[in-house]
Amino acid sequence: MRAVVPGSLAIRGMLPSAPRLRILCAAAVLAASWSMDALAEGDPDKGAKTFRKCRACHAIVASDGTTIVRGGKVGPNLFGVAGRPAAAVEGFKYGKGLIEASEKGLVWDEENFIDYIRDPPKFVAAYVGVSKVAARMAFKLGKGGEDLYAYLSQVATESE
Ligand code: HEC
Repeated sequence: MRAVVPGSLAIRGMLPSAPRLRILCAAAVLAASWSMDALAEGDPDKGAKTFRKCRACHAIVASDGTTIVRGGKVGPNLFGVAGRPAAAVEGFKYGKGLIEASEKGLVWDEENFIDYIRDPPKFVAAYVGVSKVAARMAFKLGKGGEDLYAYLSQVATESE
């Protein structure tokens, strides 16, 4: 008992679907890489929520003195911190480690910012090139650094 459909017909019937499948695959790969980019970008709205964890010690006060987010004074004002050199808020008494890192050229780009808030003492020590350093920020945030960075960038641009 053989299938009634002649082989050649079956193959011809399948032909159009092979390129279509390839297109589908390419689309899937593209979609995957796009969504990965979107993730790496950081979501400022999520960042605004995550910032609640930082408010105990940090406020966001614009250069003209307008308070954007009220917060504690244990840590420096984080207005405009995205893209700025480390330890740059005038009048704030930074720890030795962060001052030294700043002198060595530390700038808060996205990567440094995320690494820093994951583990401030470890990051500063590694940046300065010593095994241990007195970094004063006693807080660690595992996830959501890119959202916070996006939020802090947005806040600073909006009130320029
Ligand atoms: C328990 C208090 C505390 C909390 C909570 C805290 N910080 Fe800090 N933060 C500090 C202190 C203190 C410093 C100064 C560190 C130093 O001088 O070594 C600092 C410094 C920083 C700096 C460097 C600023 C500069 O001018 O160079 C960044 C960036 C920062 N904090 C981000 C955050 C973010 C984002 C959060 C929330 C996820 C957060 N911090 C939560 C206390 C805190």
